[in-house]
Amino acid sequence: DQEAKTEFPIPANVFAEKVVSVQHYTDRLFKFRITRPASFRFRSGEFVMIGLPNAEKPVFRAYSVASPSWDEELEFFSIKVPNGPLTEHLQKIQSGDTVLMRKKPTGTLVNDALIPGKRLYMFSTGTGVAPFASLIRDPETYEKFEEVILTQTCREVNELTYAKELVEEVINDPLVGELAAGKLRLHTAATREPYPCQERITTLIENGKLFEDLGVPRLDPAVDRGMICGSMEMINDTKAILEKHGLEEGSNASPSTFVVERAFVG
Ligand code: A2P
Repeated sequence: DQEAKTEFPIPANVFAEKVVSVQHYTDRLFKFRITRPASFRFRSGEFVMIGLPNAEKPVFRAYSVASPSWDEELEFFSIKVPNGPLTEHLQKIQSGDTVLMRKKPTGTLVNDALIPGKRLYMFSTGTGVAPFASLIRDPETYEKFEEVILTQTCREVNELTYAKELVEEVINDPLVGELAAGKLRLHTAATREPYPCQERITTLIENGKLFEDLGVPRLDPAVDRGMICGSMEMINDTKAILEKHGLEEGSNASPSTFVVERAFVG
């Protein structure tokens, strides 16, 4: 089996990195960390294309780097798609295995694509929390915003564990903790199991419950900024609501008051 895995040559323009650790959260979600190539630079919030050396032409999928840009390793948070061409194999990786990564990072969920503001909202569902896992560990996020509010909505309560543990870790981190203390807050919801908050983020924004829970005013384009990462439907619905509140979609070329990542959808 080990031999079968190394049978194919590593394609050009990819890094071949080693798995450092794997943690499974549920039967649908897991995290893995790989070694970081010395020459690899990215901005917190960007994504890369990930594959496995198990075919002549490996299947690549977009993965947000969940670790911050200063980290010595690279972290990814993944779904396990039944019969998914990449994740049916990727979910079986173990420490020491090889993972392929295309060399060029890209993405719009970056601090540079937002104009300055007071409060940054990160709206995520499921593995859409990954780019925010990077951004909430980046000191720059706290230099730019007075308040950072991460929201994650999942179907099941256990799917929220990654984000809960992460926020706890960030607040206790010797490097970022001091910056994040009092600024970083997590709002979680589970839609298909009993949970204190059992509604979609779109409903929570529209009925104002999100803001009541947080004790902050409703969305105001003068001070609030947004980042959205989730399924295509979630992105479109959340985007429409932000626009209704007067926020405008921005990009790297034209920064504005909210940004969206469409790379993972489909
Ligand atoms: P729901 O359980 O009501 O479908 P998925 O795994 O399908 O991407 O869903 C992840 C989470 O995102 C679920 O809690 C789901 O809620 C929620 N969700 C799905 N579609 C939307 C949408 N269009 N707007 C807001 N939340 C959504």
